[in-house]
Amino acid sequence: MNNDGLLSIEGISKSFPGVQALSDLSMEIRRGEILALVGENGAGKSTLIKILSGVYRPDSGRIRINGQEVRFQNPLQAVEAGIGVVYQELSLVPNLSVAENTFGGRPPTNGIGLMNMPELQRKTAELLDQFQVEFNSRTQVGSLSLGNQQLVEIIKALATNAKILILDEPTSSLSLQEANILFERLKQLKERGITIIYVSHHLEEIFEISDRVSVLRDGRYVGTKNTAETNENEIVSMMVGRNLDETDVLHGSGERGIELLRVENVTRTGSFKDVSFTVHKGEVLTFFGLVGSGRTEVARTLIGLDALSSGKVILRGKEVHISSPAKAMQLGMAYLSEDRKSEGLFLDKTIKENFLATNLKHVSPGGWLNWGRLQVIVQDYVTRLEIRTPSLDQHINNLSGGNQQKVLLGEWLATEPELLIVDEPTRGIDVGTKQEIHKLLRNLADQGKAIMVISSDLPEALRISDRIAVMRRGQLVGFINHTDANEERVMELAAGVASSNNHKEEK
Ligand SMILES: Nc1ncnc2c1ncn2[C@@H]1O[C@H](COP(=O)(O)OP(=O)(O)OP(=O)(O)O)[C@@H](O)[C@H]1O
Ligand SMILES: [Mg+2]
Repeated sequence: MNNDGLLSIEGISKSFPGVQALSDLSMEIRRGEILALVGENGAGKSTLIKILSGVYRPDSGRIRINGQEVRFQNPLQAVEAGIGVVYQELSLVPNLSVAENTFGGRPPTNGIGLMNMPELQRKTAELLDQFQVEFNSRTQVGSLSLGNQQLVEIIKALATNAKILILDEPTSSLSLQEANILFERLKQLKERGITIIYVSHHLEEIFEISDRVSVLRDGRYVGTKNTAETNENEIVSMMVGRNLDETDVLHGSGERGIELLRVENVTRTGSFKDVSFTVHKGEVLTFFGLVGSGRTEVARTLIGLDALSSGKVILRGKEVHISSPAKAMQLGMAYLSEDRKSEGLFLDKTIKENFLATNLKHVSPGGWLNWGRLQVIVQDYVTRLEIRTPSLDQHINNLSGGNQQKVLLGEWLATEPELLIVDEPTRGIDVGTKQEIHKLLRNLADQGKAIMVISSDLPEALRISDRIAVMRRGQLVGFINHTDANEERVMELAAGVASSNNHKEEK
C-alpha cells in the first residue's frame, strides 16, 4: 500500500430536523486500503456514506478525489466518479433476475440501444463466477436467501467498475461461510487496487480485514488507528467514550421453572424434520446454527406464520393449533422477525405509533387508549435501549438502521409475552446496546418469562443462554447446557463434526 491520499473529506457537516448527524468531519482514505468505519448506532456512518455517494448533499465542507474537489448532485455522478456502494438497506427488485438487478441502473445495450440480454447474462455470470455462488444470473432475486441477496448487492456495486467500494454492514445477513468468502473477495479486490470503506459492528471482522480503523462518535471524527497497532478495547472505548465489560455472563440461577412449551417431533416438509424440545419459564434457550439450518422456519411455524406438516405443539400442558400470529399473541407468544424491514416496522409511522401497534391491549385497559401510559412505556425503552432520536414522534424512516432495530425490539419487549421468540436480536446493533439487550432478555427470564433466541452470533449465544439447541440442515442435533458450552463444542455440533448423541435432551 502506498500512502497516497485518495479521498479526502474536509469539514463535512450535515443536519436533519432536530439532529446534527455530522459535525465538521474531516478524514482521509488512502489509495488501495481497506478502511473500517465504526461507531455506535446513529454515530453518522451511513450519513457520511450517503454524502460520498451523492444521495445527500452536505450542509458544508468539501470532498476531494485525487485532490480534485467533487460535488455530487445525484448518485449517478458518484458512480461515474468510481464510487460503488452497498447500502445498509437492501435495494434489490425481488421479481427481477440476478442479471437484471446487477445491471439495473446501466444495462449493456446493443447497437440500437435495446437491452442486450445475452451480454447481460454473460457479464453477470462472469461476476458470479468470482464469488463461487450456487445461484445463477437467471435466478429470481426474491427466491434467494438474505445472505445471497446481499452478495447480489455487492456484485451490483462491482458491476459499475467502482474504484472505491463502500460497504455499509455487508455481513449483517451473511452466514459465517458467506462472510468468509466475502473477506477473501475483498482482499482480492484490494490486491487489484480497489479502495474499500467497510462499515461494521463486528470488531472481529474489522481486525481480520482492515488496514486502518476510523471511529465516529455523535457525528464527530474521533480518530484513526492502524489496525495492527490497536485492539478491540481501544476501539470500543473510542466508540462509546468509556470502557465496556463484556466478560460477565448472564445465566439464570440454574433452576428451571415449569415447562411452558413442549414441541414434539414437528416437521415441515422441505424446511425441518422431527424437531423436539421444551422451553421452561425463567430460561433463555438459544437456537444456534448456520444460516439456513432451519431455526427461523421452526419459529415461524410455532407462531402460526407457516403450517406444520406433522408433530405436536403443547402449551401449558395442552395441545394447541396456532394458525396465525394473532392467535399466538392471544396465547401469550410473540415473535420478533429477523427480517425487520418487511415483517416488522411501519416505516412511515412514528416511534410511538409503532409501539402502539404491538401494545394496543397493554395501553388501552378497558378499551380506552391511555396516551400517558404509552408515553411512559415508549420513553422507558427509548432510554434503556439508547434509541437516538430527537423525539418519540420521529418517523422510523429517519432513524439510523440500528436505531430502527432497537424500536422494533423495544416494542416487542414491551408486550411482555410469556414466551418471547427473538430472531437475531442484536444484528446491526452496536456493542454498548447489545449488552443492554442481553440484560433485558435476562431480566424477562428472571421475571418468569420463557425466552427463545435465534442467534448466529456465537459469543452472544454463550453469554446469554441457559441452554443452546443446535440445529443443522433442518434437524435439531443436540442441546448443550451453559455449564458445558464453549465455542468449539457448539461449532462442532453446528458444522456436523461431532457426534451429537451425548448431547440429546432427556425426554
Ligand atoms: N433522513 C433523515 N432524517 C432525519 N434524521 C436522519 C436521517 N438520516 C439519518 N438521520 C439521523 O442522523 C443520525 C445519524 O444516522 P446514521 O444513519 O448516519 O447513523 P449510523 O452511524 O449509520 O448508525 P447505524 O449503526 O445504526 O446504522 C441519526 O441520529 C439518525 O436518526
Ligand atoms: Mg447505518
